[in-house]
Amino acid sequence: MNEKDYYLNSLSSSRLRHSIKCAEFLESISKIAGLNPKIAYFTGLYHDIFRELSGEDFEKIYSRYSNFIPEEWKKYGLRLFHGPLCALYLKDSENISDKIFNAIFFHTTGNINMSNLLQALLIADFCEPTRKHKNSVKIRNMILSKNMNEKKISEIAFMVIEYKIMYLNKKNDNIFQKTIDARNYLKKKIWKEKIE
Ligand SMILES: [Fe+2]
Ligand SMILES: [Fe+2]
Repeated sequence: MNEKDYYLNSLSSSRLRHSIKCAEFLESISKIAGLNPKIAYFTGLYHDIFRELSGEDFEKIYSRYSNFIPEEWKKYGLRLFHGPLCALYLKDSENISDKIFNAIFFHTTGNINMSNLLQALLIADFCEPTRKHKNSVKIRNMILSKNMNEKKISEIAFMVIEYKIMYLNKKNDNIFQKTIDARNYLKKKIWKEKIE
């Protein structure tokens, strides 16, 4: 077993199932989202390998890459910086493309100038079939509807980020600046596409 699969298989059963379902979901929407299905599957499968990292594995990986993670990310803990950690590790060990790197790096926050792959990962992460929340079900039904196309992917990604912000507001939690930037970026993009 190679190292990345060791980490994948170290995940709890529910997280592993989420990762597999995310990969399958991304592959299934690759055509409508304008993605390479193999790249979509890979990105979904490995995006969360460090989500539950602890003990010696955490020490090993964190000491290797923490210098490359911006300080403000670290304040929010692994729930936010498992994205960067995983992207840095996969770049180092698998020489992943910049597109995969950016999608995994920013999958917990979103970003400006988001690629289709990052938008699709945000969506899949939120609504793959193990996600049962009513908003996840709503997004899943939308994306699987007949008239879905590449342009509408941004509208769905925007809704996902809005839901995330609403959720954090409800918990009275801080909202990471990147997430606000991502929201504003998508809002402008959708507006521009509508008037074109
Ligand atoms: Fe994640
Ligand atoms: Fe995830």
